[in-house]
Amino acid sequence: MSDTKTPLLEVQNLTKTFVTQGSGAVFAGKRSFTAVDDVSFAVQPHETLAIVGESGSGKSTMARIAAKLLEPTAGNVLLNGTDMTHAKAKDLAHFRSKVQVVFQDPFSSLNPKHTVERIIMAPLDYQGVKPPKKRRDFVRDLMDRVGLNPDHSQRYPGQFSGGQAQRVGIARALAVGPSLVVCDEAVSALDVSVQAVVINLLKDLQRERDLSYIFIAHDLAVVRHIADTVAVVNKGKIVEHGDRDSIFDAPQHEYTRELLSAVPQINPEWEAARLTRAQTAQKENP
Ligand SMILES: Nc1ncnc2c1ncn2[C@@H]1O[C@H](COP(=O)(O)OP(=O)(O)OP(=O)(O)O)[C@@H](O)[C@H]1O
Ligand SMILES: [Mg+2]
Repeated sequence: MSDTKTPLLEVQNLTKTFVTQGSGAVFAGKRSFTAVDDVSFAVQPHETLAIVGESGSGKSTMARIAAKLLEPTAGNVLLNGTDMTHAKAKDLAHFRSKVQVVFQDPFSSLNPKHTVERIIMAPLDYQGVKPPKKRRDFVRDLMDRVGLNPDHSQRYPGQFSGGQAQRVGIARALAVGPSLVVCDEAVSALDVSVQAVVINLLKDLQRERDLSYIFIAHDLAVVRHIADTVAVVNKGKIVEHGDRDSIFDAPQHEYTRELLSAVPQINPEWEAARLTRAQTAQKENP
């Protein structure tokens, strides 16, 4: 990757220390825990950066700071080269229109009392991006694009399946026309077959809308299918960061090797897709 390009998003030397109040005689007093420890990475336009690592290693904390949902204890967040770490309302609104998030549990991230139309429109209302009369058609088009029936725009999240609800979450994220979507375990709660369809939707949307993704997943077969680059996280630090194939085929760090060997099974669906891709690439570049 050339470092002469300005990254779409860059985080520099991020640290996050959580301070918690202990209880009881033995554990009374403040205790601190550093969940993210001096982490730097960059996401280029059109790139999918996957962040992998064990549960509790700090992936979500990094992603939340990168999306400016959480303040870092130290370090900086840059969007297109501009430091947004301490952005105030106007710059923050701009940041939110460029960086959106899709979470793991679609139901807990969608307001159950709002219609899907209202949910998808909410970021537009907030940003004041479109005249109200155009918004309704805009929402219908977006629902159609993510594979939802636009006639269901007056339904509530509870009336959708998990996969459909996650499509609502994706539509809501896309509504403001972001450049980067942070997907924190966005497909992890879905059935494998639904997962494959949603992943392919994300890939299609990436091509159509010039999106970058930060993609967090436990399933390394999914990561291999979708990522361009992979950052491997252990105990709040990035231990290895590189192209997908070099991480999977020639991991340099002992922790990466352990992580890969802990998931030996290959999802046949992803593997078939990978082989097809490899064969196509070979035909195009013999
Ligand atoms: N608000 C908080 N207060 C205190 N500790 C926290 C807070 N949020 C996260 N942590 C701690 O920081 C560490 C990293 O959490 P994080 O959610 O980033 O991990 P993760 O890699 O996303 O894990 P998982 O794969 O299970 O989602 C964990 O030990 C967690 O308990
Ligand atoms: Mg997490």
